[in-house]
Amino acid sequence: MRTKVTKAIFPVAGLGTRFLPATKSVPKEIMTLVDRPLVQYAIDEARAAGIKEFIFVTSRGKGALEDYFDNAPQLEQELRRKGKTELLELLKSTDMDSGEIAYMRQHRPLGLGHAVWCARRLIGNEPFAVILPDDIIAAEKPCLAQMVEAFAETQGNIVAAMEVPPEKASSYGILDIKEDMGRIVSTKGMVEKPALGEAPSNLAVIGRYILTPKVLQKLNKKRTGAGGEIQLTDAIADARDSGEEVYGFRFEGQRFDCGSKSGYLQATVAFALARDDLRDDLWTFLNDLVHAEKAAQ
Ligand code: UTP
Repeated sequence: MRTKVTKAIFPVAGLGTRFLPATKSVPKEIMTLVDRPLVQYAIDEARAAGIKEFIFVTSRGKGALEDYFDNAPQLEQELRRKGKTELLELLKSTDMDSGEIAYMRQHRPLGLGHAVWCARRLIGNEPFAVILPDDIIAAEKPCLAQMVEAFAETQGNIVAAMEVPPEKASSYGILDIKEDMGRIVSTKGMVEKPALGEAPSNLAVIGRYILTPKVLQKLNKKRTGAGGEIQLTDAIADARDSGEEVYGFRFEGQRFDCGSKSGYLQATVAFALARDDLRDDLWTFLNDLVHAEKAAQ
């Protein structure tokens, strides 16, 4: 029987140390790309892919995230009173129906695999998506929607993948490719953060997954891997070793690693330049900056 993907896990319990001191009090996922927090992009992408249940794995200090998806009666009342209907409309994207969103605590940051495992009881026995909100993907058709279409065909585990240069491979989970079919590759394994020169391919896993319940079973083992953390990649590789298919999916779009300062800044510029209301000013500013820099050389 073919199964649809209607649940998504958003692991947001990491410490976000690369953005300290900001992340001492502001969750990384609430940081804004232009005027929307990273997590809003993730929710929009999930909705566009047909997701109906949104499961956040959070930790201490992530209250701002829960508030973001809650009603704000005072603010709304004030906007209504002032006739700011456009702003009220804008707030609608943060509306969540009762029961549509759930929060689960990861009490200690034991790794991404452990964060996903924390949501196991809410997933049950069906395939599910995992979205890392700090991976932002600009695409005509949202990345997860592309993957859901691919899953409808394959019904096997699918991980979003992109090519990376060899010197960057040790920062990612890397696919060991069995057969390259173009957009989809079948795999014979995965290695999390391989040592320099030991990557089995140049295809790196990024923060979008569609997984089967088998992966949750494998996470039950709570095996620690690279960096002493319970790695999601290891559990996916274990599921593959016990006979499940795992596919890499070359998505269409541009991925920004907003968990890193440089990726976050690049995303900010790219998303601002894509906006009609900001493009001209920003473009002029960047042009002037480049000219001044060149003139000074
Ligand atoms: P990262 O590797 O980016 O870690 O986690 P981090 O803690 O968010 O950030 P840095 O490296 O300290 O700057 C990738 C994703 O996995 C989640 C994070 O919230 C992020 O969405 N995660 C990671 C958890 O939910 N729990 C963990 O124990 C680890």
